[in-house]
Parts: sequence; C-alpha cells; structure tokens
Amino acid sequence: MTQRFTDRVAVVTGAGGGIGEAYARALHAEGASVVIAELNKEAGAAVAADLGERALFVHTDVGDLGSCKAMADAATEAFGGIDHLVNNAAIFGDMEGVGITTADPSYVETFMRVNVLGATYCTRAVVPSMRERGGGSIVNQSSTAAWMSLSGFYGVAKAALNSVTVCLAQELGGQHIRVNAIAPGPTDTPAMQKQVPAEFHDMLVQGLALKRMGTPDDHVGPVLFLLSDEAAWMTGHILAVDGGQIPRI
Ligand SMILES: NC(=O)c1ccc[n+]([C@@H]2O[C@H](COP(=O)([O-])OP(=O)(O)OC[C@H]3O[C@@H](n4cnc5c(N)ncnc54)[C@H](O)[C@@H]3O)[C@@H](O)[C@H]2O)c1
Repeated sequence: MTQRFTDRVAVVTGAGGGIGEAYARALHAEGASVVIAELNKEAGAAVAADLGERALFVHTDVGDLGSCKAMADAATEAFGGIDHLVNNAAIFGDMEGVGITTADPSYVETFMRVNVLGATYCTRAVVPSMRERGGGSIVNQSSTAAWMSLSGFYGVAKAALNSVTVCLAQELGGQHIRVNAIAPGPTDTPAMQKQVPAEFHDMLVQGLALKRMGTPDDHVGPVLFLLSDEAAWMTGHILAVDGGQIPRI
C-alpha cells in the first residue's frame, strides 16, 4: 500500500462512526497519526483505541471555537503539529426535520453553528500549526444536497459549506494551505438509514447513474487524493462523489 501520509498528522472530525471513521482508518493505514475529534465520547474513544498507536481521541464540539482550539492544542502536544484536516462532523444522523419555515429557531442556530461554522472553527484552530509546518490541506464534507434544494436547512448548510470552501481556498492559498470539498451522494451508513426510510432506497438508487448506493469506502480514495500531494495544485474544488446523482456539464 502506498504510504502518502507517513510522518503527517491528520485531524478527522466526527470520526466516531460512518464515513468519518472510514477516513480516519484509511489515513492511519497510510501512515498518518490521526486525531479523532468527536462529540460522541464512547464512539470516538472506541475508534482511537482500536487503531492503537498513532491515534488520539479528543472530545470535541466543532460548534464551539474554544473546544476546537483545545483539540488543536491536544493534537499538537501529542503529535507535534497538524498537516491535514477533514471537516466531516455534522448533525446528520440525529437530525430533526429542518424545514425552513417550520424548524425551531434555537435548533436552527445550533444546526447551522455545527454544520457550517464548525468547519470554520476547526480550520481556524488548525491553521497556526499548518502555517508553522509550511502548509497543509483541508477537505470539507459537503453533500449533493447542496445542489438539490430538497432538504431544507441541511441543504442550505451544505451550500454554505461549499461557499466556505472556495472562500477559505482564497484566504489560505498564500499560506500553502489548500481547501477542497467532496460532495457525497447517498451513502449507506447507520445515519443515512435513520434519515432515509427504507421504502425510498430503491427510488434513490434508480436515480443514480451507477444504480447502487455509495459506501464509506467509496469516499476514501477521493478524500485522501485531495488531502495528498497528488492534488498539490487543486484548491477551492467541490468534487462530487455521488454515483452520477447530479449530472453537470
Ligand atoms: N451518509 C450519507 O448519505 C451522506 C451523504 C452526503 C453527505 N454526508 C455527510 O457526511 C458526513 C458523515 O455522515 P455519516 O453518514 O457518517 O453520518 P454520522 O451522523 O454518522 O456522522 C456525523 C458524525 O459527526 C459527529 N458529530 C455531530 N455533531 C458533532 C459536533 N458538534 N462535534 C463533533 N462531532 C460531531 C457525530 O457524532 C457523528 O459521529 C456528514 O457531514 C454528512 O452530512 C453523508
């Protein structure tokens, strides 16, 4: 196996399960020291314990700038600095209906803080270390929901995250920090099973050019590519990894 991340330190938010866990495991397998920045203590600690050496769980709420800064400090103390960040955490599996005209305002504030500002807080927290190390790379976890106008505030938050991605790419490019995003289509995780009732799965799959649901592993290759030096001249790009859900020209 290629070892593109030997001697690198990668933070993956929301890596206690689902797609984020797949990223953490793949980065670890390619030689990185990995920080599992997760709100769910039990899940995050279990993934870190299972990975063993070069893995650290840090209890983190990405919706709180202080918590993100404490996470970045813990990562730097444990591994000497930070080279890569995947902003994967989001309120998704436990998401309440977030219709724009129906959602509870205080819930919307928390939702947008975690799902949009969370990526900015974590980025802000890791940038000083990346700068010190001469650069770094970041991938934000968007969704095809950003382009579908179907899912209320969830889609609004992912569209905002796309905008955050291109703005950060401009802001940080001069410091040799690249910022890209991937936009997954429907991906088989416990969270997705909870959000999309089983009776809609067939319809969803029939709408995909490749006629199958994605798996967390389908996203690993694209995200590790964007993080790696292979993508050294890519920044501000939103990469659809969606089985052909959204045809674009
Ligand atoms: N599964 C899909 O079909 C799909 C499709 C497109 C995009 N996505 C996105 O991919 C990501 C992962 O999705 P998943 O299916 O693995 O869902 P998931 O709900 O299992 O993953 C989200 C993770 O983030 C953690 N989290 C929630 N709030 C947090 C906070 N404030 N601070 C830190 N961690 C927090 C959760 O505990 C969980 O481990 C999410 O950003 C989701 O929006 C998923």
